[in-house]
Amino acid sequence: MSEPLPDFSHYEVAVVGDLVADRYVHAEPARVSREAPVLVLRWTGEELRPGGAANAARNLRALGARVRVLGCVGRDAVGRELLEVLEREQLDVSGIESLPGWTTPTKTRVLAAEPRRTPQQVFRIDREPVGPLPGPGAERLAIRLRELLGKVDAVLLSDYDYGAIGADCAQTLQVLRRGPIPIVLDPRHSLELMPGLLAATPNLEELAWAAHCDPRRLADPAELARVANALRERLGHRHLLVTQGNRGMTLFGVDQPALGLHVEPCGSEAVVDVSGAGDTAAAAFLLALTARCAAPQAMRIANAAAGVVVMKSGTAVCDRAELTAALAAAPAPREVLVHS
Ligand SMILES: Nc1ncnc2c1ncn2[C@@H]1O[C@H](COP(=O)(O)OP(=O)(O)OP(=O)(O)O)[C@@H](O)[C@H]1O
Ligand SMILES: [Mg+2]
Repeated sequence: MSEPLPDFSHYEVAVVGDLVADRYVHAEPARVSREAPVLVLRWTGEELRPGGAANAARNLRALGARVRVLGCVGRDAVGRELLEVLEREQLDVSGIESLPGWTTPTKTRVLAAEPRRTPQQVFRIDREPVGPLPGPGAERLAIRLRELLGKVDAVLLSDYDYGAIGADCAQTLQVLRRGPIPIVLDPRHSLELMPGLLAATPNLEELAWAAHCDPRRLADPAELARVANALRERLGHRHLLVTQGNRGMTLFGVDQPALGLHVEPCGSEAVVDVSGAGDTAAAAFLLALTARCAAPQAMRIANAAAGVVVMKSGTAVCDRAELTAALAAAPAPREVLVHS
C-alpha cells in the first residue's frame, strides 16, 4: 500500500527566483497571405500565465502551501499583469520588486488550431531584459529574503538565468547552509554558487554544464552516477535529483545506492506540453521533503506531480486531488543496476 500524501497546508514557503510571464496567443488559420508566402492567423484570444519561478510558486500553492514570492518584474505592462495574476491566485507578492527600466522576461507562444483541434505551437518570441538584473534589485531581494528566513518553513530557489539567483542571494543563504529549514535549488547555471543545500534538481543539461561534460555522455547510467555523485559530494548537498524529461528522474545521495535510485515517468495518457514540468517537480519535491517524507518517496511524489502537468496545455499546476490520484498509479523508484 502506498503512503498517504502529507498535508502541505501546514507549510509556508518562500520562492526566490526569476519571474517569467508566459503569454499564450490563441489563433486559427485564416488564409495564405498575399504579402508573403506565409499563413495568416486570426486571433481568437490570449492569456498570461506565471512562468519560471512564478510557475513554481503557483505549483506550491496548488499543492496547498502558503507561498511568498520574492523576485523582480520590470515596471512595465507585462510586469503589472503578472503581479495581478499572482495575486488572484492567492500568492503573497509583497516581496516582488518592480524595477524601472528593466524588462519583465516574457515568452510569447502563438498556438494555432482549427476549432476543436489540439492547438499547435507555431512560434515563440522571447522578450528579455538586456544585461543582468540591476544591482539594487538583487540586493533588495537578498534583504527581503533575510527578513523572511525566520518566518517560512522552506525555501525554493528557482533559477532561470535572469539574475535573481546570484551572489547576493548566495551570501544571504550562507548562514543557513545545513541550517534548520529545507532549501532546494532548481538551477540553470547556479549550481556552483549555492553549495551545502538540502537538495538541487538539475536536468541533464544543467548537470552537464556544472560538471563541464558533454550531456550526451550522461545517457550512460554509470557515467551519470559518476558525474552526479562527484558533483553532489563537491557541493555538499544532501540530495541531487536529476530530472530526465520523458525518461523520468534519478536520485543521488548518501543514503541512496551508488548508481542512484530511478523512477520511470508517470502517466499513460498522451503528453501535451512538457514546459514547466521541472518547476512542478522541484515544488513537489521540496514540499514532500519539508513534510519529512524520505527522499525516495519525495521523488515519487515529484515524478507523479510532473506526470500530471505534462498532460495539460501550457505551464500548468497539479492540485492535491490530482496528485493523490496520480500517486495511486505511480511507479515505485528502483535501484539502478548496470549490466556488464
Ligand atoms: N514526456 C514526459 N512524459 C512524462 N513525464 C515527463 C515528460 N517530460 C517531463 N516529465 C516529468 O517532468 C520531470 C521534469 O521534466 P524535465 O526533466 O524536462 O525538467 P526541466 O528540463 O527542468 O523542464 P522545465 O525547466 O522546462 O520545467 C521529469 O523528470 C518527469 O518526471
Ligand atoms: Mg527546469
